[in-house]
Amino acid sequence: MQSMKPAANEKLHPAALPWQPRIVAFFCNWCTYTAADLAGVSRLKYAANVRVIRLMCSGRVDPQFILDALARGADGVLIGGCHPGDCHYVEGNYKMLRRFEMLKRMLKDLGIEPARVRLEWISAAEGEKVKRVVNEMVEQVRQLGALGLPAKFADWDQEMAELEHEVR
Ligand code: FES
Repeated sequence: MQSMKPAANEKLHPAALPWQPRIVAFFCNWCTYTAADLAGVSRLKYAANVRVIRLMCSGRVDPQFILDALARGADGVLIGGCHPGDCHYVEGNYKMLRRFEMLKRMLKDLGIEPARVRLEWISAAEGEKVKRVVNEMVEQVRQLGALGLPAKFADWDQEMAELEHEVR
């Protein structure tokens, strides 16, 4: 009788794998993305459950991008920007902070836990902080469980590629 177990080199369909939190990380090019890159955390970009999208400034993160990420299958969204006073565009990060507070209220009204989104200031030299924050975020979202907004989505990679294209 033939075994029903897949061969070791056979790729399982994502739906057959145990649930993993899917996180979209919007990182500022000048600080958090650089820190992630230096620390080798950029490999997260290729990890099944964390997708990094690089932007030139956290102030470029429109709340709509966050809602789109959730609608496209993300269970949580992390935003990383320069520390206050260090933004290359002077006050992009302050803008993000104001939008972020508004976004959390909006999510709550929509019945989505505000803890699914997180904003952190991480400089280019803080590679360890990127790792810690990403790990905490994955764990926090794991505790919250799947958001499951889309009834079905074709493919996480494809959805994220489309989102990245729209963001650019
Ligand atoms: Fe990094 Fe504005 S340039 S947050």
